Amino acid sequence: MKAIVVTDQAAGTAGMKLVERPEPQAAINDVVVQVHASGFTWDELTWPPTWTDRLDRDRTPSIPGHELAGVVTALGYGTTGLSVGQRVFGLTDWTRDGTLAEYVAVEARNLAPLPGDVDFTVGASLPMPGLTAWQGLFEHGRLRAGQSVLAHGAAGVVGSMVAQLAREAGAYVIGTGRSADRQAVLNFGAQEFVDLENDALEDVGPVDLVFDVLGGDIGKWSARQIRAGGTLVTIAGPTEARPANGLAVDFVVESDRAQLGEIVQRVRDGRLQTNISAVSSLDDAVAALNSTERRKGKTIICVRP
Ligand SMILES: NC(=O)c1ccc[n+]([C@@H]2O[C@H](COP(=O)([O-])OP(=O)(O)OC[C@H]3O[C@@H](n4cnc5c(N)ncnc54)[C@H](OP(=O)(O)O)[C@@H]3O)[C@@H](O)[C@H]2O)c1
Repeated sequence: MKAIVVTDQAAGTAGMKLVERPEPQAAINDVVVQVHASGFTWDELTWPPTWTDRLDRDRTPSIPGHELAGVVTALGYGTTGLSVGQRVFGLTDWTRDGTLAEYVAVEARNLAPLPGDVDFTVGASLPMPGLTAWQGLFEHGRLRAGQSVLAHGAAGVVGSMVAQLAREAGAYVIGTGRSADRQAVLNFGAQEFVDLENDALEDVGPVDLVFDVLGGDIGKWSARQIRAGGTLVTIAGPTEARPANGLAVDFVVESDRAQLGEIVQRVRDGRLQTNISAVSSLDDAVAALNSTERRKGKTIICVRP
């Protein structure tokens, strides 16, 4: 099969190569999926599990990409809940070969049925940002209607989902970003916009929940914006500063079939917009993922039209 592999961590996305690889076999509880569309997170070549397995052994050449939408072609021993021929979407294991390929083997529990009226391209754009936003807001952040949320990077891939889901849940949403992102952030449902590079940040808080996708100094400043009893949720690595009188949670997203169902239902009925900036074929994927233009959303690789 055709697949994109990486072997050299220092090379970043410039080291991606389109090559021939053996088709994957389904292990116990796996399905093999014929990939129709694949999603890649722009900085995943900096994540340790892209390069090593759970015992820290080199696993290169590895196939990146952890989101997919496609059709099940084989079931492993003991696999239940999905059938051959079924349309599915979801998130694949960080330490296994991923979805920038014609086929991928993935545990069935990481996938959900993809309704027939949702394009594969849309399906592949949802798992990472949709599940991350859902889990950060509702599981880790315990968001309730009437609370206030500061959603960082709200024109970006994860932040745009955070802003939309928080608003739908009845929160007051303040989105942040660069000045050029103001209208996009408001379009994603934020009631207010904060330009992190130019606005006076001391006037922003306090809020019940900060959803941080940026970390660094913005993460540290965010800890000071939390109202007593509130939560700083971050996906940008271990929390560097904690709120004086609140919780700090950092987490890594997990696949969840029920939550994938909630997310795709919202896309079908128009409550949630995806944030796709470009769609490319697998043959053109290396160039598309190395584009020097500014990313304004997710690049989806259409593996099979
Ligand atoms: N822990 C987890 O489970 C998990 C899950 C998903 C993603 N992540 C991580 O979360 C991070 C965000 O992912 P993403 O896909 O949402 O990225 P993204 O689409 O690039 O979103 C980040 C947004 O923030 C903006 N931004 C960055 N720095 C800024 C600054 N200093 N001031 C104002 N705006 C700024 C970006 O604008 P520009 O494009 O102009 O920089 C962009 O709009 C990545 O590091 C990703 O690996 C973690």
